[in-house]
Formats: sequence, structure tokens, C-alpha cells
Amino acid sequence: MFSNIFLIPLIFLFLTPRNNYADNLKMLKIFGKVNDFDLNTAEIDENCIQTCFSNSDCILAFFNEISKCLLFFYNSTEFLEVVETTRDDGYFVAFKTNLTDPDPNYCPSGVKFPPRIIIDDHLIFWNKYSGGIWHYRKCKPFQRSNPKVTVCIQVFITRVGITQQEAKDYCSWIGWKLIGVANPDEAKWIFDKSMELVPDQKFYEGIWIDGERKTPGYDEFQESDFQTNLSTSNPDFCPIESEISPKIFLGEDPISWTNTSDSTWQFKKCIGNWKMFKRSDPEITVCMQVFVLGNGTTQKEAENYCRSIGYQVTGVASVNETLWMLSKVWKWIPNLPYYQGIWIDGERKTPGMNNFTWTDGYTVGYRAFEVNNSMMSFHNEIKPSELENCLVVSRTYQPAVINDVACGKGSGADLGVACGYKLE
Ligand SMILES: *[C@@H]1O[C@H](CO)[C@@H](O)[C@H](O)[C@H]1NC(C)=O
Ligand SMILES: *[C@@H]1O[C@H](CO)[C@@H](O)[C@H](O)[C@H]1NC(C)=O
Ligand SMILES: *[C@@H]1O[C@H](CO)[C@@H](O)[C@H](O)[C@H]1NC(C)=O
Ligand SMILES: *[C@@H]1O[C@H](CO)[C@@H](O)[C@H](O)[C@H]1NC(C)=O
Ligand SMILES: *[C@@H]1O[C@H](CO)[C@@H](O)[C@H](O)[C@H]1NC(C)=O
Ligand SMILES: *[C@@H]1O[C@H](CO)[C@@H](O)[C@H](O)[C@H]1NC(C)=O
Ligand SMILES: *[C@@H]1O[C@H](CO)[C@@H](O)[C@H](O)[C@H]1NC(C)=O
Ligand SMILES: *[C@@H]1O[C@H](CO)[C@@H](O)[C@H](O)[C@H]1NC(C)=O
Repeated sequence: MFSNIFLIPLIFLFLTPRNNYADNLKMLKIFGKVNDFDLNTAEIDENCIQTCFSNSDCILAFFNEISKCLLFFYNSTEFLEVVETTRDDGYFVAFKTNLTDPDPNYCPSGVKFPPRIIIDDHLIFWNKYSGGIWHYRKCKPFQRSNPKVTVCIQVFITRVGITQQEAKDYCSWIGWKLIGVANPDEAKWIFDKSMELVPDQKFYEGIWIDGERKTPGYDEFQESDFQTNLSTSNPDFCPIESEISPKIFLGEDPISWTNTSDSTWQFKKCIGNWKMFKRSDPEITVCMQVFVLGNGTTQKEAENYCRSIGYQVTGVASVNETLWMLSKVWKWIPNLPYYQGIWIDGERKTPGMNNFTWTDGYTVGYRAFEVNNSMMSFHNEIKPSELENCLVVSRTYQPAVINDVACGKGSGADLGVACGYKLE
């Protein structure tokens, strides 16, 4: 399964700018190392961070305790992977980052992660993977009109034959979305990029003829959802590790770091941008995500989908969980019709009762069914012989969002599923 615990030893040190290059550029330093690069052959530069800071093309400095220093430049870097290490390893990585706080002397109240910066009109961003790994890829920003947004597109070659759903999952796994194209420029850029990434024309064409298709993932850059709050009484420096108690926002959830030892901060998070719910009685933490799979999704398809990504259809234990699910569907389908929703776990085994059997292995109780949150009809109102013993979360004509539907086929217009797992 997934490792949900990341050990992240960090020190936060910010270099105050000593030139006029940009008023809110800083170097964010952590214990870490750049994969596939060796410091042994690197030159010594005792001012490694400062050198990177002063060079407008430098995006990252990698150095060790004896000041062997490697700099990475925007022009010559396509991909980087930074892995967080421990203090004892003696490696440091400093990201150039653009803090939104305009005052260079104070630590910002919310430091944006992943560090990002704009060089030559290109957004440089880092993406955080599980296990304390940061990835960097160049991103091409496109200005769109109507609506006026800037989207950031990147093409990923994953594997031959990837399905659209897998492509979507890939994008959401790395924290973004599969993007559509809004104009010929974007389409052309994407095409050129994929040709650049897979230049072997023959190989590519062969696959094409075989009917297998490479689906590049197009990613839309989202406002950073990874923030930590720092505060300090010292106006010149941001606090060091021992003085901070950072709280980060990943996806929608604030996640507190806990200090497990001198140099180690630990936090638990749900994978990707899944939503975390803390349940009481019993006290467990559950991670969930809503997937819109298509109009007419059957219960079986819903179950298979969750299983295919390694989870299960989740039950619900509070009104909040169900409201969050509905809001998610609503966000994707703004004109959500009544009684169209997503499958959740739970089946009524005792006719006439509202105590459902949960199969997800972690849901207990019926608190989600609290006053006015469920609309139980027990059978199809038009065809009374048809029992409605399974559950969806959907928009109804009432405040209620839990609706009982026929097992198997549901309403016939169900849109997807809520998958979940228990965070250990
Ligand atoms: C990066 O490369 C571009 C094109 O080759 C060049 O115009 C630009 O000056 C370079 N930037 C730096 C900082 O070297
Ligand atoms: C930093 O951010 C500010 C405000 O968002 C922006 O005006 C500035 O151009 C950015 N600078 C760099 C180098 O990214
Ligand atoms: C950071 O702290 C400030 C002031 O306490 C607060 O207003 C803000 O919401 C916090 N931001 C985050 C991301 O916690
Ligand atoms: C972190 O833990 C160490 C050792 O357990 C302790 O000495 C230190 O005060 C803690 N720091 C914070 C900020 O809690
Ligand atoms: C799903 O299909 C039904 C019937 O075909 C239709 O009435 C409904 O509007 C569709 N829902 C969405 C969200 O497209
Ligand atoms: C439900 O969510 C609201 C707002 O997000 C929050 O204030 C409330 O404490 C939550 N209730 C439970 C039982 O978690
Ligand atoms: C539901 O309630 C009935 C009657 O009290 C009981 O026989 C049945 O075992 C209960 N089922 C569950 C899943 O709790
Ligand atoms: C439940 O709904 C009824 C009728 O719509 C309403 O009168 C009642 O106040 C609601 N109760 C709660 C707790 O919201």
C-alpha cells in the first residue's frame, strides 16, 4: 500500500536579498539532495546559495557540508528530482522561490510550497511527491482569454497505451488536472512537445498504427495548495526548524507537523489531494476522493473503479463527509441535476430499517443520517416492487444528500463514486 507517513526533516532558512534583483525572492533551504547528481566532482563555493541567488538563471543550489556546490540553471535544466534527507547526511538544497510577502525583512505568514518563481516568462515550479521527493519540470504558461486565465501546460510521457482515465489519475496524482486545449497554439505546443519527448518517429507511428496511444497529461497549474505558516519575532531571519511549528495545507486540509525528535518533523497526509476526515468513536482518520466516471455509472463499475486504484467505495460517518462529497460533484458539474450523484458504500439488509451494512471495513454507525440528511424511500415510488437498498450522495429537493437507490443500477444516471481508505 502507500506509505502515508513522510519523515521530513527541514530547516527553513531564508536568505535576505542583498541586491535589487527582486524584492521578494528568497532561497529556501532544506536538507536534501538532487538525485543523479554527484557533488564529489563539484567545485567548492562557500557562497553557494548566494551565488545561485545572484544569478537570475539559477533555480536551485545543491551543496554539502564542505561547500561542494552544484548550481542548476533554468536554461539547461528540464527535470530535477530532489529528495529530502536527514541532517546527518550533510546535504543541502536551496530552492529559489518567490515569496508573496512583499516585505523582505519579515518572514511571510504563509510560505508557498512548492517553491515557484518566474524566469523569462516561464513559471518554475516544484511538485511534491510522496516520500519527500520534489520534482521540477519546466512549465509553459499560456494566457487564455474568455475566461482570462493563465494555464500551465506540461506534457508527460508515461507509458504506451495509457487510458484517458489513467492519464487523469496520473495528473491528479501529481496534484494537477488533465487539461483541455483552448486554442491552436496550445495544441501545437503540446504536439511539438510530445514529438520532442518521443522523437523516434517510426516507433511512435508504429504504436499509433497499432491503435495504442500515448496520452500526454496536460496539467493545469493550480494556486499552491501547500503552505506553511511561519512567524517570528526576529525581523531579519526566518526561524530555524526548532522554532517553528509549521502547518501545511495540502489539498484542502491543514496538516500539522509533529516534532518527533530534534530534527524530524512528521506529518500524515492523504494521498494526492484526497480529503482527510477525522472521525470520532472510533477515532480514525479516513481519506476520500470523489470520482466522476460518467452518466449511468453502475454500482459494480463504481466498486471496480475504486478497486482499480487500490481503494474501496467509502461509507460515510458524518453529515460533513456527505456535504463535502456533494460539493465536489457540484464543482465538476455545476448544473447538477436532481437525484444524480455518486455511489457510496452501505446496503440495507433489514427491510424498513435505516441501519446499513458497511463493507469498507472502517465505517461504523449512522451519524451521517442525522436529521434531514437522508431521504429514504425504501423502494421505487413509481415501481414499488423495486427495492432501494443501496446509497448515493446526490442533490435532492431537500437539504438531504443521502438517497437510497436500487442496488446495482442505481438511479440509472449516477455519475461516479466516492472511494476511500483508512489512514493508518
Ligand atoms: C537562456 O537562453 C535563452 C535562449 O537561448 C537566452 O535568450 C537567455 O538569455 C538565456 N538566459 C540566461 C539567463 O542565460
Ligand atoms: C514574484 O512575485 C511577484 C508578485 O507575485 C511578481 O510581481 C514578480 O514578478 C515575481 N518575481 C519573480 C522573479 O518570479
Ligand atoms: C497563517 O497565519 C495567519 C495569521 O495567524 C492566518 O491569518 C493565516 O490564515 C494562516 N495561514 C495558513 C495557511 O495557516
Ligand atoms: C522538538 O523535540 C525536541 C526533542 O523531543 C524538543 O527538545 C524540542 O523542544 C521540540 N521542539 C518543538 C518546537 O517542539
Ligand atoms: C445523464 O443522463 C440523463 C438521461 O440520459 C440526463 O437526463 C441527465 O441530464 C444526464 N446528466 C448529466 C450530468 O449529463
Ligand atoms: C463540519 O464542518 C464544519 C465547517 O466545515 C465544522 O465547523 C464542523 O465542526 C464540522 N463538524 C464535524 C462534526 O466535524
Ligand atoms: C438493523 O436492525 C435490525 C433490527 O433491530 C437488526 O436485526 C439488524 O441486525 C441491524 N442491522 C445492522 C447492520 O445493524
Ligand atoms: C428538518 O426538516 C424539517 C422540514 O423540512 C424542518 O422543519 C426541521 O426544522 C429540520 N430539522 C433540522 C434539525 O434541520
